[in-house]
Amino acid sequence: MGYFLGVDLGTSAVKCILVDEAGQVKASKSVEYPLYQPHPGWAEQNPEDWWIGTAECVKLLLQEARIAAAEVLGVGLSGQMHGSVFLDEKLAVIRPALLWCDQRTAEQCEWIEQAVGKERLGELTGNKALTGFTAPKIVWLRQNEPDAYARVAHIMLPKDYVRLKLTGTFGIDVADASGTLLLDVAKRDWSQEVLDKLGIERSWLPPLFESNDIVGTLTPEAAGITGLAEGTPVVAGGGDQACGAVGVGVVKPGIASVAMGTSGVVFVHDGTYQEDPERRLHSFCHGVPGKWHRMGVMLAAGGSFQWWKNHFGFEELELAKKEGRDVYDLLTTRAQEAPIGSEGLLFAPYLTGERVPHPDPKARGGFIGLNLRHSKAHLTRAVMEGITFGLRDSLELMKESSVEVTELRVNGGGAKSRFWRQMIADVFGYPVVTVNSTDGPAYGAAVMAASGVLGKDTTALCEEWIQVVDRVEPIEENRIQYERYYEVYRSLYPTLRDTFHKLSDLAQG
Ligand code: XUL
Repeated sequence: MGYFLGVDLGTSAVKCILVDEAGQVKASKSVEYPLYQPHPGWAEQNPEDWWIGTAECVKLLLQEARIAAAEVLGVGLSGQMHGSVFLDEKLAVIRPALLWCDQRTAEQCEWIEQAVGKERLGELTGNKALTGFTAPKIVWLRQNEPDAYARVAHIMLPKDYVRLKLTGTFGIDVADASGTLLLDVAKRDWSQEVLDKLGIERSWLPPLFESNDIVGTLTPEAAGITGLAEGTPVVAGGGDQACGAVGVGVVKPGIASVAMGTSGVVFVHDGTYQEDPERRLHSFCHGVPGKWHRMGVMLAAGGSFQWWKNHFGFEELELAKKEGRDVYDLLTTRAQEAPIGSEGLLFAPYLTGERVPHPDPKARGGFIGLNLRHSKAHLTRAVMEGITFGLRDSLELMKESSVEVTELRVNGGGAKSRFWRQMIADVFGYPVVTVNSTDGPAYGAAVMAASGVLGKDTTALCEEWIQVVDRVEPIEENRIQYERYYEVYRSLYPTLRDTFHKLSDLAQG
């Protein structure tokens, strides 16, 4: 039997899975690594930690699956998007990578919009300058760490550093490259005009590929470290959102995915290049060759729930440990003790600033509407509802751009809870389905590897391997109740914006 290895380099851990030639997951493993926040709003990781974690994870996975190295027919890489890996000419890491959720580059975004021209930047890249994207991080390095910048010989995204370690080759897929703000997304090529206006060398960037193209093969050294066979092909893969969408079969129009990782993403497939005239949604290349997609990204979806669990879920954490239960199950059970709307309590989920629909690094979170009747159940439910309302904001932008949606495919942590799936169906007003593949981006990366190695069409493989297993319909009575709260939720950010900014400035000072 042959297997495809899907690697997803996440923000808190790397996850590796083995998928057989019939699309079944044989084994999965994950290994964590640290995240550093040296200043408020900064987020960094050490690229070496990604490589050490990935090598260990692959080794453990192969041991657990008890398969021979030669049975792995191909590798696909998925990863957290937008992060900046800076290497010198000897391929040494110059400084820790700035991540997708790092918010330090507001000034650099303004500078980029002036240097290229806001409208022209949008025409060329399909997007506006956002703090999470890669180009502002490069400009930040030039302005703030000139000695480090002087050493730069190569710039790449997180998973492409792991590719370099695995294969000794440089390469990036057009899907992940779209999030650099340096790609002409419609042409699927680096934009020479943007590069020239920003003073960034094209030779620093990796060559471009479609997601299922084979970019390189395992070096003897990487084979020794990981346990994979020398010469195993590695396809380009994609950013985690493109891979996640492929992993749940969002490869044709009409189906949207709602992905709940640390970030929260609403994602639709586009057969041809489409742009949001106001650039509120991201227009990127898809992981399906020759196709595109649009998405809205909220920065702290699962991240907000994780924060709530870590700081206020002590009883649940203890019970989970004692009884071997899932702490998130216990929290969602607690939330169900409160009614829809949490008796007049809303949660603003902007804990790490926000991207869509409010591109604002200084946005902040909060509970609004607290009264003496509110218990932990109400607050827990309010956190879940606030995240779901935040996701709905992206869907509203899609509806304004006349995107047709008939079904939502939910994946990520939140998808495990039927209660949360019902909440999403009720808040969004669409049926919510789950599919047999639950490994999201890692599964999508394995599909891309299979597509490249077997020479099969990505969409056809998804149709063969991915089936709907559960469907939750919106309940009209709930939908009406949520709608009233959603209207108030939408007014929170504009009303509180100045307060958020003042508090953020005070905390920096
Ligand atoms: C997408 C984004 C995040 C990261 C998280 O634009 O920034 O989803 O990719 O891993």
